Amino acid sequence: MLYDAISRRSFVKTSAAVTAAAFAPTVAAAAQEAGASPLATEHGKLPYQEESRTRRLAWWQAARFGMFIHFGLYSVIGQQEWVMESEGIPILQYELLAQHFKPKPGFAEEWVRLAQSAGQKYMVLTTKHHEGYCLWDTKLTDYNAAKTGPGRDLVREYVDAARAAGMRIGFYYSLMDWHHPDGMRCATDEAARKRFVAYTHGLIRELMTNYGKIDILWYDVAQPLTPEQWEADRMNRMVFELQPDIIVNNRNGLDGDFSTPEHKIQADKRAWESCETMNLGWGFQRSDVEWKSPRRILNDLATCAQQGGNYLLNIGPEPDGTVPAESVRILESVGKWLSVNGESIYGTQGGAAVSFGNYTNFTRKGNTLYIHVYFWPAGTPAAQWLRFLDPPTVVAVGGMQAKVLSARLLKTGQGVAFTQDALSLRISGLPALAPGDPVTVIACECDRPPVVDHHSIRAKWPRYKVGLSV
Ligand code: GLC
Repeated sequence: MLYDAISRRSFVKTSAAVTAAAFAPTVAAAAQEAGASPLATEHGKLPYQEESRTRRLAWWQAARFGMFIHFGLYSVIGQQEWVMESEGIPILQYELLAQHFKPKPGFAEEWVRLAQSAGQKYMVLTTKHHEGYCLWDTKLTDYNAAKTGPGRDLVREYVDAARAAGMRIGFYYSLMDWHHPDGMRCATDEAARKRFVAYTHGLIRELMTNYGKIDILWYDVAQPLTPEQWEADRMNRMVFELQPDIIVNNRNGLDGDFSTPEHKIQADKRAWESCETMNLGWGFQRSDVEWKSPRRILNDLATCAQQGGNYLLNIGPEPDGTVPAESVRILESVGKWLSVNGESIYGTQGGAAVSFGNYTNFTRKGNTLYIHVYFWPAGTPAAQWLRFLDPPTVVAVGGMQAKVLSARLLKTGQGVAFTQDALSLRISGLPALAPGDPVTVIACECDRPPVVDHHSIRAKWPRYKVGLSV
């Protein structure tokens, strides 16, 4: 229906204009492209991107923790963001949702305040999800929040709110598009591909041009085209020309600046960010009550930091932008903990451990090891026989690869005593009940960058030749 409203002629005209603009090479791009066909790919290895990566990633790697926001017409239904396809909703029906999509005034400020109180340092909003509806005032389709539905540029409201609070700004953008007439036929029809690529590059160009400095471009689902067909090199080159400090992920088919494990924590050799939901879905799901506990979230965050990665934690706001109460409760409790223990997450360097504790996690910064105790290990009946399991000595770490010089509770700064031998670091002077809620952090100053590796003690254990005759 909306596409009927835009006459075929004006659609083709717009597309042609966008194609022309998007193809107009800058001097730098022309130099890189000399002799290459417009579809030639160097598989994402843009010299500028390679050279500047460390600098561009620095703030993000120190930040460690961001907020993901899934918000769109699907929020009105409240059955997650794939509802259009998973329930097979006809496009003309789905479009009707726009008339009922009414974010309340100030919704974006509310998100920003929540991100701040959660200790999140950046935000990534779905500017266009697979449904194809653009949350900003684009000139390339009327299927957008300014022209159809709310009558407002929701991306502008988000950017303004985030920027006013000094929050870093990220845009999620889905390449896959279930609404655009060329969104699928582009795979088999070259004319459609050209139009759709021009449309896609044109939308990204708007996002990269009209909202000031943008910190992250978070592509998603490159289906149904290959990177060559998306002209993904040229896409990224345009992005860097418009936003030289931006970082881009790897979901337009190219390597990008960081990888994006989803629903799992999987360290990569390069920069990476694990994205995760607080319940089961990304987009608002009214009846989903499978909430993760703040302790689980904090442990995931620490695990990412331990391995040098970031954690992007999602909210799926209700159709008026209200964040579900349970998400608010969880985020506020995470933020309360970070306001006391943030030093053990922000600016940490990764590589703190090559093995896990049973109730501990580890992060490090310089020569400081942060021991995150997420299940307090007191109260075992075995303490009557193995006295070191009894408070006041309760936290032990096997296989510390550095000498501990001093230890303190991060929360209070109170020093704690410890002993250390070749096998174990045993921290004493601790109460029977966990001093931290829900996670206690003990900071240890060491004589060198610490690494925890309990596997290392397997070879060192004095085994007393038990059972062997010599
Ligand atoms: C997947 C899903 C999408 C979600 C995204 C978040 O690609 O298709 O719905 O937005 O993951 O990482």
